Amino acid sequence: MKRKIACTGIKPTGTPHIGNYFGAIKPALELVKDYDARYFIADYHALNAIKDPKQLREATYEVAATWLACGLDPEKALVYRQSQVPETFDLSTILLAFTPKGLMNRAHAYKAMVQENLEMKRDPDDGVNMGLFTYPVLMAADVILFDTDVVPVGQDQAQHLEMAADIAQSVNRNYGKEVLTVPQPLIQESTKTVTGLDGRKMSKSYNNTIPLFMEPKKLRKLLMKIVTNSQTVEEPKDPDTCNIFAIYKLFATEEQQTEMRKKYRAGGMGWGYAKQTLFELMNEYITPLREKYNKIIADKECIDKILSEGSKRAREIATLKMAKLKKELGYS
Ligand code: TRP
Repeated sequence: MKRKIACTGIKPTGTPHIGNYFGAIKPALELVKDYDARYFIADYHALNAIKDPKQLREATYEVAATWLACGLDPEKALVYRQSQVPETFDLSTILLAFTPKGLMNRAHAYKAMVQENLEMKRDPDDGVNMGLFTYPVLMAADVILFDTDVVPVGQDQAQHLEMAADIAQSVNRNYGKEVLTVPQPLIQESTKTVTGLDGRKMSKSYNNTIPLFMEPKKLRKLLMKIVTNSQTVEEPKDPDTCNIFAIYKLFATEEQQTEMRKKYRAGGMGWGYAKQTLFELMNEYITPLREKYNKIIADKECIDKILSEGSKRAREIATLKMAKLKKELGYS
């Protein structure tokens, strides 16, 4: 039986953090054994926000090196750069003709910007470029181009993918057959949200993230900033309402979690101790990945080679898809 296709995009903006790791990277890597995986760097999407070439280039290397260090194997999955597969933008233009403007008006990212502008008494479209407005169409093109069945993403991307499915369906309806595969989002329930330093969802916009590959000294210092309540050392504590434990759980085995729960409930354990225990566990987990990352990021030529080889293979698939589709639409 033909394997199903999993495809997802990683936007090169900012330094990857443990929320990205548990919410997106790890679940996507787990799919590689059962799916034909196609994972790409969404560098055209990044342009809506990043206009500085140096910053864009660096962010691209950073995310590529992160995925490779975490175990993405270019022999087993197709790894490429969106910008090196221009068929994406050809398809995106086609999809625009099937996308109601009203659908884009409802996209969360766009709506949030308009809302903020209104609150600040600015023009509602202030700072909104058309790339941002049509963002879900480009995302739809990314996945539809590769006949994608499932798209592993975080909860925040669910709406964008519903839109991708809507767009694919309206194309199919128009031509009276399944010219496009309708993609489905795949959202990991268990790591829907990763708790940040302040107890809110870990997010760059809250400035409460823990970078994945932070050096141990800095990491320890950062973990000491996790917000806790003011219980004394002696008091028994509740692991399930504690931000330290919420992060500890991500790295710990069942046994380690049980052990730690006991320490919380017994009393006599201070927050400093809990944070130090978290640091040791996390550092042990991250160290081999960090070492790999540092090696990979030091060899940019190698990253370039991996991405351009992957992109070449991706283009072969994309070219066939576009030739077939264009015929069906009446372009040849
Ligand atoms: N929008 C996604 C994000 O912000 C990145 C992305 C771009 C993507 N194209 C995609 C994700 C296609 C899944 C499928 O994280």
